[in-house]
Amino acid sequence: MKPLLRVLRGEALEVPPVWLMRQAGRYLPEYRALRAQAGSFLELCYTPELAEEVTLQPIRRFGFDAAILFADILLVPHALGQDLRFVEGEGPRLAPVTDVAGIARLKPVDEIDAVLAPVYETVARLRQSLPGEVALIGFAGAPWTVATYMVAGRGTPDQGPARRWMYGDLDGFGSLIERITQATIHYLDRQILAGAEAVKLFDSWAGALAPEMFERFAVAPAQQIVAALKERHPQVPVISFPRGAGAMYPDFANSTEVAAVALDSTVPLAWARAEMSPAPGRDGVALQGNLDPMLMATGGAALTATARRMVAAMRGVPYIFNLGHGITPDADPEYVEQLLQAVREG
Ligand code: CP3
Repeated sequence: MKPLLRVLRGEALEVPPVWLMRQAGRYLPEYRALRAQAGSFLELCYTPELAEEVTLQPIRRFGFDAAILFADILLVPHALGQDLRFVEGEGPRLAPVTDVAGIARLKPVDEIDAVLAPVYETVARLRQSLPGEVALIGFAGAPWTVATYMVAGRGTPDQGPARRWMYGDLDGFGSLIERITQATIHYLDRQILAGAEAVKLFDSWAGALAPEMFERFAVAPAQQIVAALKERHPQVPVISFPRGAGAMYPDFANSTEVAAVALDSTVPLAWARAEMSPAPGRDGVALQGNLDPMLMATGGAALTATARRMVAAMRGVPYIFNLGHGITPDADPEYVEQLLQAVREG
């Protein structure tokens, strides 16, 4: 079995499998070239030959243990009928959904495949073209994080618009979360049917939720999504990334049936291991993370030393080496080589 899938089933490997969030992206010259050729980011996402090629670029160059489908978390709102553009240098822009009437204008979940079918085709192509030991990860945004963009119409420093709606009208906001949850279940189910071997939920803004709201809008939707996927695909593991969950991480791991949680860079690995890894008398989850992405731009002795310490700290528990957030455009591909050497050869 592929190393990544073994770890997701609870095995501890001597050398952890490794991949990086956002491993296909602007830090790679071959990505920038193809991106220019495609014209727009959305074109790239919706053209299976190009999305396949971009997914494969970091696999060819570095030999990671997993490939992550090239797409974006905002394709789901787009498929639900929300206007979406990516503005060069500024990020995503959507036509905001700010009230219950806005939710009513969204398309029903059974119509999203009209937009998302090319993504499933990309997955199917990748299952054919990926080297044998490389696992294919599908993904979606978690409902809360997707909602923050749907409501604000853009990225915000504090997710203020979504949090204001949430506190002002819990039920109305809850119905938006419910619609996204249903769309996400459908979307991930289709990715798995097309060949995804694991799926990841990105809750990048989970850390903006106070504990009660975290339960309601991060934990509960994840429970619902994992349960629905497990019913249809009991063997397919779910990784979740409730970024910024802090002290709520163990609760998240215990309350959802995820196979793994991805840790952000602020979480001490020894603490995560003690609280969440499988141990005598306790179930547990595989852990993924959490090197500070800044080290991919700075390199040096700190990179090798930190990576080695992390591998040592997680020896004996199911662990996947990754960053604590996405690799940034200023990362140096040479430092990725250096990292892989430190993780794999010590
Ligand atoms: O390699 C991979 O990880 C697969 C592809 C992937 C992308 N986005 C491609 C992308 C994945 C898994 C994502 C997830 C994603 N998208 C998240 C969650 C993870 C995280 O980083 O917190 C979020 C919040 C988004 C939404 C999004 N997409 C924003 C806010 C932006 C603009 C900011 C930025 O980094 O440019 C994007 C654009 C985006 N998504 C790019 C890529 C490669 C850059 C677009 C470009 O090439 O111009």
